[in-house]
Amino acid sequence: MNTFRDYYNNEVTLSFKDHPFCKQPKHVWIICKYKHQWLLTRHKERGLEFPGGKVEEGETALQAAVREIKEETGGIVSNINYIGQYYVNGKRDVVIKNVYYAVIHELIEQESYFETDGPVLLEALPSNIKNNGAYSFIMKDNVLDFCLEHIKCKS
Ligand code: GTP
Repeated sequence: MNTFRDYYNNEVTLSFKDHPFCKQPKHVWIICKYKHQWLLTRHKERGLEFPGGKVEEGETALQAAVREIKEETGGIVSNINYIGQYYVNGKRDVVIKNVYYAVIHELIEQESYFETDGPVLLEALPSNIKNNGAYSFIMKDNVLDFCLEHIKCKS
């Protein structure tokens, strides 16, 4: 378990164990790769981030992850794996989110990308994300660093 503070000074705890905080979390976040590039989306308010969102009624977290990738980037998943789960002790609510790593094999242009402006492909993630105004707060805590390290070790 790793505990740290996020961009808003909320306490975040990240674990790579199998669903340590909740068996059926209501939120998902997916680190996506498309042909050796990172696949992000540009959220209209928050800025650049990996896709993600809320699990809908009657859906599993994994199904939500696949759907959110398609909705926010047009990406079609060829392989997706659970990486870990994090717990945000927010000012109003607790948020528990599953993190996945997905390989995308196709990008299909969508009529709408919902609350985002659609896909953004990056050869590399910049080293200054934490103080780069183009990036979403979701990308600015240690969840991203630890998960990228975890993916590197597994591959
Ligand atoms: P809507 O309910 O869709 O309007 O969005 P919301 O942002 O109010 O709700 P959500 O439940 O997604 O998030 C509530 C709060 O939890 C956010 O304002 C953040 O403070 C925190 N939060 C949500 N997701 C994350 C995340 O991935 N990382 C961190 N650090 N905090 C998060």
